[in-house]
Amino acid sequence: MQTISDTIKVEKVKTSKIDKVDFNNLAFGKVLADHMMVCDYKNGAWETPKIVPYQPITLDPSAKIFHYGQSVFEGMKAYKDADNKVWLFRPLENQKRINISCKRLAIPEIPEDYFMEGLKALLKVDHKWIPTAEGSSLYIRPFVFASGNGFHASPADEYKFIIACAPSGSYFAGKVKVLIEEKYSRSANGGVGFAKAGGNYAGQFYPTQLAVEKGYNQVIWTDDNTHEYIEEAGAMNIFIRINDTLLTSPTSDRILDGITRKSLIEIAKDENIKVEVRPITVKEVIEASKNGSLKEMFGAGTAAVISPISTFGHKDQDYDLPELENSYASILKKRITDIQYNKAEDKFGWRYQVSI
Ligand code: PLP
Ligand code: COI
Repeated sequence: MQTISDTIKVEKVKTSKIDKVDFNNLAFGKVLADHMMVCDYKNGAWETPKIVPYQPITLDPSAKIFHYGQSVFEGMKAYKDADNKVWLFRPLENQKRINISCKRLAIPEIPEDYFMEGLKALLKVDHKWIPTAEGSSLYIRPFVFASGNGFHASPADEYKFIIACAPSGSYFAGKVKVLIEEKYSRSANGGVGFAKAGGNYAGQFYPTQLAVEKGYNQVIWTDDNTHEYIEEAGAMNIFIRINDTLLTSPTSDRILDGITRKSLIEIAKDENIKVEVRPITVKEVIEASKNGSLKEMFGAGTAAVISPISTFGHKDQDYDLPELENSYASILKKRITDIQYNKAEDKFGWRYQVSI
């Protein structure tokens, strides 16, 4: 029987750009690999994905993405091990999540095999773009948007699902200073906070700019109702260690169900670290900082991996985190990246090999 992978057409670039790239000095998501996967939704169905040279796309100015922001995306990474084998980390979770996001934005869901087979076909042609320098990987950006046109405020009748890849280094340069938000909100009950909707990020840029002007890198979002509960960072879920207990907020309508987050919860338990998934108040974190029981705060996400927070600000006051040896952040980062880069046993079955 013919499968979708047999029908994916591949059009390769005439000349690769790869020789122009300095793989030892990679920024995050700035240089794009030679090819992309494109899959169109037309006449009520997703068409067969195809691999084409990475290139600009042409859209009608009335395409609904421009007016109504109907778009969702994912973030994944491909890793290369010492034997040049290529690995993904829990890719079926991204495949499921993009459809959770699509559903919330009234975008037609993508068939599971289109996502996975399209991605594998793309990695087959662009596997040379997976960097091998310490801490680097090929960042994979699957995204879907309304390409159908017309100013009527209703879901489009045409969509594009594209996967593009960027060899990338660290998301943050150095330690992260965060500001706990007291005014703006990222999401609300019944909203789209749990989805990876493009608009969630656009809405964060202005409050984040204000925080950057004050010397912070990121905002820590609090609940929209009271601003008393810590929710997540702009592009990461958040973990807080008080004494020897690791806390993280429960996911909800407002918080993205991060794949890194749920993996770290399992790894921490496997390390016999006590984990509590429960609402965390700003008040308890400030108290813990004052009485010395606040040991660590870190963000967790695909792009940022685990990013230790050095300082948090709240109401014009900064609170510094101690520098710890053998921090939970360092233990967990080693465990998760060793699985991702195929450097250690994967007792959870999360690694996914891609044949190239
Ligand atoms: N929270 C937000 C708002 C994000 O954008 C991300 C990044 O994807 C995360 C959390 C972390 O999710 P994941 O670990 O699945 O990358
Ligand atoms: C990721 O971690 O993959 C994300 O999608 C975060 C992004 C906003 C850079």
